[in-house]
Amino acid sequence: MAIVLSITNQKGGVAKTTTALSLAHAFARRDAQKKILLIDLDSQRNATSILLGNQDIPPEKSVYALFQNKRSESAALYPTPLANLFVIPSNLHLVEVESQLTGALDGFFRLNDALQTLRHEFDYIILDCPPSLSVITINAMVSADFLLIPLQISKFSIDGIQNIRDAVTTVNRRYNAHLKIAGGCLTLHDGRTTLSQAMIPEVEKILPILKTTVPRSVAVEEAHLMRRDIFDYAPDNKVAVAYRELADELLAVFESQRGAAAS
Ligand SMILES: Nc1ncnc2c1ncn2[C@@H]1O[C@H](COP(=O)(O)OP(=O)(O)OP(=O)(O)O)[C@@H](O)[C@H]1O
Ligand SMILES: [Mg+2]
Repeated sequence: MAIVLSITNQKGGVAKTTTALSLAHAFARRDAQKKILLIDLDSQRNATSILLGNQDIPPEKSVYALFQNKRSESAALYPTPLANLFVIPSNLHLVEVESQLTGALDGFFRLNDALQTLRHEFDYIILDCPPSLSVITINAMVSADFLLIPLQISKFSIDGIQNIRDAVTTVNRRYNAHLKIAGGCLTLHDGRTTLSQAMIPEVEKILPILKTTVPRSVAVEEAHLMRRDIFDYAPDNKVAVAYRELADELLAVFESQRGAAAS
């Protein structure tokens, strides 16, 4: 059964998509026997355009279909240059889902239902969430086993983290008791600033922070522009090294939770 990892933070521009893409590639490159699925849940389509370019993707063959209750999930699977990495792309029609699901009795469960078959086909399913605590993000939390929260340290990020924490508590209580926070990950990180040093303990009162931090590098933007993953574009770059370490750290978290659940 797949492990479903949701990359979530309602704050914009904290490297959710970069982290989702990098982890998907890191897992896929680490072990060719494992099958990885990345699902783009953001109508901005950033992950989709990096992976698939300007390919025309009709709504019924996109992530939009997963929210329609029609068992069309396999129609939306697209291959990538890595044989063991697939993507379910986004489509602008995804913005309609928000109003379609408001008031629907199963509105928070559509994605989870659509993932039932896919969970048997893949080892890791990575969800790239939009920058909002919307119905779509709640669908991701209801479907996920683990949440990874990319973070940039600032006063505003602390308020935002408390909101995610509260959302997780509600989801745990009402919809998905299995959801666990794998941790916060400091992205676009400059560990030298005294502000970030001073605020880390404050963040840790709300959320466990993973050991791996992801520094800034122009190589990230360059790789995105060239539609290449960071490991292919600049394998020795500090960001590539960090995302490889993050993948390893997360695998250890998954393992330890599995062990805890079994005992
Ligand atoms: N480690 C990094 N170094 C330099 N630039 C980065 C790094 N990580 C991400 N970026 C850049 O920061 C910007 C925001 O990243 P990204 O799109 O991954 O964030 P996001 O949280 O998905 O944004 P949104 O909330 O809009 O979906 C992008 O231009 C991306 O190329
Ligand atoms: Mg994004």
